[in-house]
Amino acid sequence: AAEDGSQAWLRYAPVPKASEYHSLPASIVALNNTKTSPVYVAGQELEKGIKGILGKQLGVDGTSKASSSIVVGTAEAYKKAYGEFEEADELEPDGFFLSTEGSTVLIIGQNERGALYGAFEYLSRIAQQKFSPVSYVSNPHAPIRWSNEWNNMDGSIERGYSGPSIFFRNGFVVDNVTRAAEYARLLASIRINGIVINNVNANATLLSERNIEGLGSRLADAMRPYGVQLGISLNFASPKDFGGLSTFDPLDPAVDAWWANITNKIYARVPDMSGYLVKANSEGQPGPLTYNRTLADGANMFARAVKPHGGIVMFRAFVYDNHINESNWKNDRANAAVDFFKDLDGKFDENVVVQIKYGPIDFQVREPASPLFSTLRKTSTSIELQITPEYLGQNCHLVYLAPLWKEILNSDLRADDKPSKVKDIVSGQRFSRPLGGWAGVVNVGTNSSWLGSHLAMSNLYAYGALAWDPSLESEDILGDWIRLTFGFDARVMEVITEMSMKSWPAYENYSGNLGIQTLTDILYTHFGPNPASQDGNGWGQWTRADKFSIGMDRTVKNGTGNAGQYPPEVAARYEEIETTPDNLLLWFHHVNYTQKLKSGKSVIQHFYDAHYEGAATAQTFVPLWESLQGRIDDERYNDVHFRQVFQAGHALVWRDAINQFYHNLSEIPDDHERVGNH
Ligand code: GCU
Repeated sequence: AAEDGSQAWLRYAPVPKASEYHSLPASIVALNNTKTSPVYVAGQELEKGIKGILGKQLGVDGTSKASSSIVVGTAEAYKKAYGEFEEADELEPDGFFLSTEGSTVLIIGQNERGALYGAFEYLSRIAQQKFSPVSYVSNPHAPIRWSNEWNNMDGSIERGYSGPSIFFRNGFVVDNVTRAAEYARLLASIRINGIVINNVNANATLLSERNIEGLGSRLADAMRPYGVQLGISLNFASPKDFGGLSTFDPLDPAVDAWWANITNKIYARVPDMSGYLVKANSEGQPGPLTYNRTLADGANMFARAVKPHGGIVMFRAFVYDNHINESNWKNDRANAAVDFFKDLDGKFDENVVVQIKYGPIDFQVREPASPLFSTLRKTSTSIELQITPEYLGQNCHLVYLAPLWKEILNSDLRADDKPSKVKDIVSGQRFSRPLGGWAGVVNVGTNSSWLGSHLAMSNLYAYGALAWDPSLESEDILGDWIRLTFGFDARVMEVITEMSMKSWPAYENYSGNLGIQTLTDILYTHFGPNPASQDGNGWGQWTRADKFSIGMDRTVKNGTGNAGQYPPEVAARYEEIETTPDNLLLWFHHVNYTQKLKSGKSVIQHFYDAHYEGAATAQTFVPLWESLQGRIDDERYNDVHFRQVFQAGHALVWRDAINQFYHNLSEIPDDHERVGNH
């Protein structure tokens, strides 16, 4: 049967053991009957889901007795209708209480959004035949759980691999927002509460009257019922380029007034707008440094504008000079974020959050956690992840990213020699910050599979799951996603689990191992092998490979000093080759190809072997997937099959391109005589 990929994990397919669910109440009570409220939506969703999953038609009702019903609403509404609610004190904003223990199912949110999340949780449980009675409170890890969508006004998407935008066309907000609403529903089901819909390389024409009108009367309205708050990216030069002022200096009162005015206009149309996202002084984007103002001066200007409206500013830490000179051994793009931000700690307004990419460079297959997480103590921070796998095969390769993200989140930066895991820093807990959280660059498009690949949707699902609870295991998240997306076939579970869990290590092996980065073409496509493109330009993603040696020397004693940006314990570990893990060796050290790893292999032999190993793993994905023919609908089977065949071939291209390149450079033979001219 054909399968509508756009339903993703919300298929509500009938479960085989539906008859075993005995205690299903007779009706649904939604404690808010305003059609645009998340609680109303929750009631509708429960009705639809239960009908699909269990085959029972329950009516939704706002008035009936709680007994023998599924009751969904806020704690406040519950108390008003029925009296006491004991768990109320345990709930945090967006959190919910779910109880299936009695004849009544209780789904009670701290707020409306929490109630909707609880409804999706309940439906996810029964869709997976998790029928045993439960009763628990679930609260979020952090308040900010946003998606970032790099959509351009002309309808294209920067680093998007799934067709054109669902938000913009020909310079304007789209007329038909059906897909935007469907996407908001998907985001709500994984508890994402905000969305920034336009590219960080922002176009000021978003601020035109017509577009502000479109944001308010269409997009925000379409997503609000799902508790997804709209936010926008700004172009720092807007007052000049768009507003007609002679300057965009953040300390010029006219500029300040211009931003306050346009912000008031937007809030008049979108009263609950979450706030702004700003990329400044990075990759050619304008910013405060033009006027010798600090990045904090820039961020605070926006913070002042949104403050009266309760908005926040996500200010990106991805600030660096892309014209640095490689001939200076001490130059290092990886140092940029800490260099730019360290003296600004404590200088940002309270409603500013500094949004930090997980590693110091740019979404590479392997990076250490950004040292900026441990530098900023008096500033709220968030972690930026990429669901759209820009450097990781662009959804023509399967790369399940939860394990990569978890390594970063669990990295302990040992600030002040105390436990300082990245996940506890961005939640606000470690440095007692009021704000904090998550930004995921998703870049969905009009393709019905959302991301251009059915299997890649595990990454979006995992992003939401981890943003709510980063202690979840990658494989458990994946298991839930597989059941919800593909059903209960044990072989399907086995195969997709095996492929997904092997996918990141395989990609790392055949693209760029030992911490040398992805070795992709960095100048144009970010796709496919091009190790020569890393060096000899100002972008600073250098390998410094020559005939004898390779790697960035980031030590304090002899290199760029980047290791010293980490707190002392971690700095000491990265400073020495002996204590640096092999998988980051070439990130922190410049060594001879003959340098021995902890495994006993030389660096170059490891390169050769890993590329063979990774490519060989990618070959196994094809027969593994083929073993599922007939167990998955043809549409999804064929689509994934096509991609796996491509990946298998492209992995060989990767293997040979990289191995040949370093063989030519070093002229060191492969012990197994596979690489080179024979
Ligand atoms: C990467 C990406 C760009 C993007 C930038 C950013 O460099 O290739 O397309 O604009 O990151 O995150 O700002």
